[in-house]
Amino acid sequence: MVDLELDMRARIGRLELAKPVMTASGTFGFGEEYRSLVDLGALGAIVTKGISLRPRAGNPAPRIAETPCGMLNAVGLENPGLEAFLRDKLPGLREMGPAVVVNILGDTLEDYAALARALDGAGGVDALEVNISCPNVERGGLAFGTDPALAAEVAAAVRESTRLPVLVKLTPDVTDIAAVARAVAATGVDGLVCINTLRGMAIDPLSGRPRLGKVIGGLSGPAIRPVALRAVFEVAREVDTAVVGVGGIGCWQDAVEFLRAGAVAVQVGCATFRDPSAAVMVLRGLEDFLKGLGVRSCSQLVGAVEL
Ligand SMILES: Cc1cc2nc3c(=O)[nH]c(=O)nc-3n(C[C@H](O)[C@H](O)[C@H](O)COP(=O)(O)O)c2cc1C
Repeated sequence: MVDLELDMRARIGRLELAKPVMTASGTFGFGEEYRSLVDLGALGAIVTKGISLRPRAGNPAPRIAETPCGMLNAVGLENPGLEAFLRDKLPGLREMGPAVVVNILGDTLEDYAALARALDGAGGVDALEVNISCPNVERGGLAFGTDPALAAEVAAAVRESTRLPVLVKLTPDVTDIAAVARAVAATGVDGLVCINTLRGMAIDPLSGRPRLGKVIGGLSGPAIRPVALRAVFEVAREVDTAVVGVGGIGCWQDAVEFLRAGAVAVQVGCATFRDPSAAVMVLRGLEDFLKGLGVRSCSQLVGAVEL
């Protein structure tokens, strides 16, 4: 029997990844800490921690709390800012092998556009991932991503400011994620990433104090996987734009679920905190599964759900 090579490429608009598994923003830093622990070269992309124009100090401690089947975080998008990122982090990222996807965040439309312009010229950046879960300071703090028109404005501002492929990461904290997806997809972006964390909180029953310094934080981990899967399914049915799945993915079986729901690629987030090689294990398991199925290409599984 001829052993035909399995094609694991994933196409996200103009971005082509050699493998369909990436790290999720904020859960892998800039890859530095994992370099000696993980076969980073195996991954499709490293998505950086969110980068803002200016450095951000983040929120007061405690910033992390464990929950049943997940965790809450209120890190507050702490990051070194654009200038230090370009100077100190990007050169190392370029050498790691996987595609470099830079996650960006802003308080205003102009922040997003300025970040997109600067990263366009930086060299060695393969795509941008736009975090629209941040509050718009100019419009009363409403998160950009909760309003379809506002979400589309951010997407268009970034799209018009860069030649790089643009992925927009959607928040699940909306009633109708498909409506936001439709509005964002109409701006011609390359991909939609589903989902960011869900807003949540926890209180210590004895002290009466919230477990997070910021009181409310973002829930991630296996607890949110069914929500993320549903979001991918609803969005993939609604738009022609490529969808990337993220939320509670910790093993290859989870990745298969997301591909079947319509994602062309997946990201592994806080599962990495338990096992630094989680993303690589997801990829290896997925490859073995696809070989066992006898398919030629990973893309054959995308949307393969029997309804
Ligand atoms: C500690 C932490 C920091 C995060 N920081 C960011 C960030 O800077 N930008 C972003 O778009 N998402 C951020 N996220 C969200 C993750 O990228 C991911 O969407 C979410 O955690 C769900 O995936 P998971 O359940 O696999 O962790 C962060 C998540 C965690 C746990």
